[in-house]
Order: sequence, then C-alpha cells, then structure tokens
Amino acid sequence: MKLWGGRFTKQTNQLVDEYTASIHFDKKLVQYDIQGSLAHVEMLKVCGIISGEDAATIAEGLKSVAIKVEHGEAELLEEHEDIHMNVEKLLIEEVGPVGGKLHTGRSRNDQVALDMRLYLRDALVEISELLMDVQKSLYKQAQNNLDTVLPGYTHLQRAQPVLFAHHMMAYVFMFQRDVDRLFDSYKRVNKSPLGAGALAGTTFPIDRHLVAEKLHFDGICENSLDAVSDRDFVVEFLSNASLISMHLSRLCEELVQWSSAEFNFIELDDAFSTGSSMMPQKKNPDVAELVRGKTGRVYGHLIGMLTTLKGLPLAYNKDMQEDKEGMFDTVETLRGALALFAPMIETMHVKKETMYQAVSKDFSNATDLADYLVGKGMPFRESHAVVGQVVLHCIEHDKFLLDLSIEDFQEFSELVEVDIFEILSPEAVVNARDVAGGTAKVRVEEQLKMVERLFEKNREWIISHTDSGILN
Ligand code: ARG
Repeated sequence: MKLWGGRFTKQTNQLVDEYTASIHFDKKLVQYDIQGSLAHVEMLKVCGIISGEDAATIAEGLKSVAIKVEHGEAELLEEHEDIHMNVEKLLIEEVGPVGGKLHTGRSRNDQVALDMRLYLRDALVEISELLMDVQKSLYKQAQNNLDTVLPGYTHLQRAQPVLFAHHMMAYVFMFQRDVDRLFDSYKRVNKSPLGAGALAGTTFPIDRHLVAEKLHFDGICENSLDAVSDRDFVVEFLSNASLISMHLSRLCEELVQWSSAEFNFIELDDAFSTGSSMMPQKKNPDVAELVRGKTGRVYGHLIGMLTTLKGLPLAYNKDMQEDKEGMFDTVETLRGALALFAPMIETMHVKKETMYQAVSKDFSNATDLADYLVGKGMPFRESHAVVGQVVLHCIEHDKFLLDLSIEDFQEFSELVEVDIFEILSPEAVVNARDVAGGTAKVRVEEQLKMVERLFEKNREWIISHTDSGILN
C-alpha cells in the first residue's frame, strides 16, 4: 500500500511507478533527508505536537535507518517513489506505526526543498575549496615564473609580451570572482523552507525558526508559496557553475595550444597526459580537452533548469523533480574537473626558453618603438605610421626590429638614438608596463601580494561555513 494510497481503488500502473519515481537519483539526498527529519521531530516535541517519548522513538529509528542505508542494509524501492517516502517506510518498519507521526505538519514539497538546500550548502563549500586549490596552483606557477616572458596575443596574433606570471594571475582573479559568487549565493541557499507544508503553511503550532536554527540556517523562507516553488538557488548555482566551467575551458584551450608542437610553451606532466592506441609518439592533453568538453553539459543543465521552471504556476509542480539530476551532475562534473586541475597545473613544465625565443622573433616590441618616438615629441598617430613603415621594411628584408642598425632606424626617424636597442628587449618591453595591473614584474608582484590577502579571506570564510555535523 502506498503512503498516499487511501483515496485510490487501484494499484498504480507499473509504468507510472517507473516514470514518476525519483529514488534512483534522489537517494543521494538520504542523509540530508534524515537530518531534516531529526530537526523536524525535535521541534514537534518542543512545540508539544507529539510526546517526548514518541519523538525519542522516532529519532532513534531515524538514526538506525541512517546507519542501515549507509551500510547498504536498507533497501530503497522504486515503488516508494522517492527518498522521502522510502525513509518514512523504513522508519515505520523500524519503529512501527508511531513512525507515521513524523510527517505531521510537513509535506514532501517543503521537505524536498529543504534537502536540496542542505545538499547544495555542503556542495558550495566543497566546490569553493576545490576552486581555491586551483587558484593556489596558478599562484605557485606565477611565483615561479616572474621572469618568464610569454608572447601575449590578441586575435591569436602576437601582440605584446607579458610575464607568464601575469597570465597565470589573470586566471587567479577570474576564479576569485567565481569563489566570491559561490560565497554570495550561499546566503540565498541558507534559508529553511521547512514548515511551508504543501504550499500554505500548516495548522499545527510549529516553530519554523527552531528547525532553522537546529539545521544551522540563517533564517527561514518568508513566504510559504515561495518556499516550495523557489528553485532560484539551483539556477544560480548552475549559472555560477557555468561561469566556472567557462573559465576552466578557456584555460584548457590555452593548455592544449601551448602543449602543441606549434607553440611548445609547456609540457603537461606524464601523470596528467594520455597516449594514443595507434600512434606511439603521441602525448595528448586529454584532461584539458575533456574539461573543455564537459562545459557543454554544465551549460545544458543551466538552460534545462531555466526551461523547466519557465511557465510553472505556483506552487509545487512535479516538473520540479527535474531539478536534481542536473544539479548533482554539475556538482560531480565540477568536482572531477577541479580536483584534477590543481595538480595538473602545479606539475606543468613551463618552457621558458621557447617562450623567450618566440618573443625575440616577432614584432611584439613595435608599440614600444612607437611609444619611444612619442617620448621624443612625435604625436602618437604619426609614430604609429612611422613604425608601420619600419615593420614593413623588416618584413621585406626578413628581419626583426632588433636586427636593424641605428642607421636603419634613422632612415625612418632622426629621433631614434642608440638607447632604442635596450628599450626593445623583451624584458624592457614587459617592465615598461609599470602601471597598476600591468605586466611589469613589480606590478605582478603586487598582484601576488593582493591575492595572498584574498586567499586568507577565502580560508576564513570556509572555516566559518564548515558545519560540524548537524546530525546530532
Ligand atoms: N520526489 C519529489 C521531487 O523530487 C518530491 C516532492 C513530491 N511532492 C509531491 N507532491 N509529489 O520533487
């Protein structure tokens, strides 16, 4: 007999059971579901809605169900549809009919919203920590490459040289915004929907704040209809996850390019690369490619969730059961990518020499020649044109700027003097960008200092948001 079977005269069609069941994925929520029930039953007792004795029996029963499930000793059945009814069934098996008092003043609608929030709360902390590890690995590469000059690109054409450290730090700041977004979203996740009932509240004199406190929420969802209908927090997470994935994917793309023979700027460690079944010479950046590839499924989950919610009338609709798989998959996808990323970056070999060769054999110092002429009084637009002529001359004679003689330069402008040779070296070009946020070594060192403070703040946030077990 189904828990809701009273008004039915027939068994549910087998296909309906299969189609509507969520147990094969929402079983992930089991420990959160039980935590929520423990808080609920404690509140029912404090508010005098059930006796202390019944509450104790139910709490004990829930705890042994938790242990049995953990040890694989309890069977979760499709015929009981979802995790909430499976737990209730197991509880009743464990303690008898008194277990049926657990669901007093509660609905699966507020219960499922609660479980989702409890799950996501933990996931946010976990994902943030993994992101912080990735930041740390990029920071270390930056620290070790404060003298490594990399060609900087726009339109994937050589533009101006930058420090490899500067490039790594760009990603550190991107991921910092991602961390900040996760932290900020936590506030909106951390509210208790329990007590909203099916949609309108409940006739029992419950204390929603007490439950919220027990489960370490910051407060309650203020409106019962909103409490059971809101999945904004899922959308927000998927959106933040999409940005994280997009950032990861851009870095992946660079790793793939840089490790090709054409660039040859880095070599990924053997432990983080794979081979080819046919071509013995191959060493492939599979991890970077797969992380880039998995970005698609994360974006897909975001669009899927938004589309599911669009047009749903208040309050709960069964459509909303579709909120879980995308969220779980996104957490697992990010967890997998981020856990690999930190050690992959940390063990990456940076080929300083090839990068230096590259910036020595291009025109990425052309702006500096133009700026030099400006320093001597020439209007920038004019110097731009003069240097364009110099570059054209070089291309025609198969030379780079530093291959020219002082006489060659002076053919184009009398203003050029011998100090130009120093000014056009890759190091000088980099260090000339001595503005806040620029690529000069001193400015990159400033960035390192800045993020050290951010890292500390991140750490503090994690410590103050790590729950020390709400089960007891
Ligand atoms: N399994 C359902 C879900 O995940 C739980 C809530 C069901 N509520 C209901 N009234 N059918 O959304």
